[in-house]
Amino acid sequence: MRKAFVLMEDLESITAAALEEFAACADPAALENSKARYLGKTGQLSELLKSLGKLSAADRPAAGARINEAKAKLEAALNRRRAELADLRLTRQLSAQALDVTLPGRGIGVGGLHPITRTLQRIETLFHSIGFAVALGPEIEDDFHNFTALNTPEDHPARSMHDTFYVEGGMVLRTHTSPIQVRYMETHAPPIKIIAPGRVYRVDSDATHSPMFHQVEGMWIDEDVTFADLKAVFTEFLRRFFERDDLKVRFRPSFFPFTEPSAEIDMSFGGGWLEISGAGQVHPNVLSAVGIDPERYQGFAFGMGADRLAMLRYGVDDLRLFFENDLRFLRQFA
Ligand code: PHE
Repeated sequence: MRKAFVLMEDLESITAAALEEFAACADPAALENSKARYLGKTGQLSELLKSLGKLSAADRPAAGARINEAKAKLEAALNRRRAELADLRLTRQLSAQALDVTLPGRGIGVGGLHPITRTLQRIETLFHSIGFAVALGPEIEDDFHNFTALNTPEDHPARSMHDTFYVEGGMVLRTHTSPIQVRYMETHAPPIKIIAPGRVYRVDSDATHSPMFHQVEGMWIDEDVTFADLKAVFTEFLRRFFERDDLKVRFRPSFFPFTEPSAEIDMSFGGGWLEISGAGQVHPNVLSAVGIDPERYQGFAFGMGADRLAMLRYGVDDLRLFFENDLRFLRQFA
């Protein structure tokens, strides 16, 4: 027969250990594990209850009552700890999500126009003031509009002047904005007086060449538009664009398959000359290709790099800066 006092000693040490362990549990899962160790089916307290049978009949009621008392005490402690842990979790959550409603708002950045966009707009405004409309066209072009209609047949060496990106189905990423003029001439009768701005693509990449860049081409076709008109229009444009009346402009003989005669236009810059644009009188073959009678109509075309103009105007010496979209750079123009 077991002695009642031994069992009671066990009860006391189990109760003390359980209370201590409950209090030490830092999260609900640990607490539930701890509960199983003492109050679960095979927990220490339950085992103790089972061993009541080993006591004498006289000792059993009192011992049973004390075990039940201890059990109630542990359950109460367990519930208290559960509530404490839940409170703790809530407090932590609330302080982590704390919102200081007295802070001033962050505001939304106002944004600004990209320097190339500003440059294109400036060019458009200046040409618009002397009667040029703006024409646009697709960036993925067919061979006819990018080359053939521009007097550049399949085997023409000028095709290799442009390092072309070819895409599926015999299409190209347009290498210049001249195909815009072709499309415009196909759908409009002279007089034609347009500029054609847009993105163009060539296989080329360094500090002054980007595989994607911007051109603005222009064209004026009527019965009597001469090379002298080209000189006047372009010189006036450059002087207004750079806001310098003393700007010198030079026309240097050159070659393009779609103009005859052809020229490179240079402007004075830092004691030297800087190439700004190709130009010339539109070749009769180009006019014929789009159904305009070259015996009756004539005129000029030019094509310049808009990025180059932006670099000069803003004093930027690396073209790539325009396309990296680093806000520290772009913010300077906003
Ligand atoms: N399309 C030519 C180029 O991209 C530029 C140009 C346009 C030259 C019109 C003459 C006349 O190189």
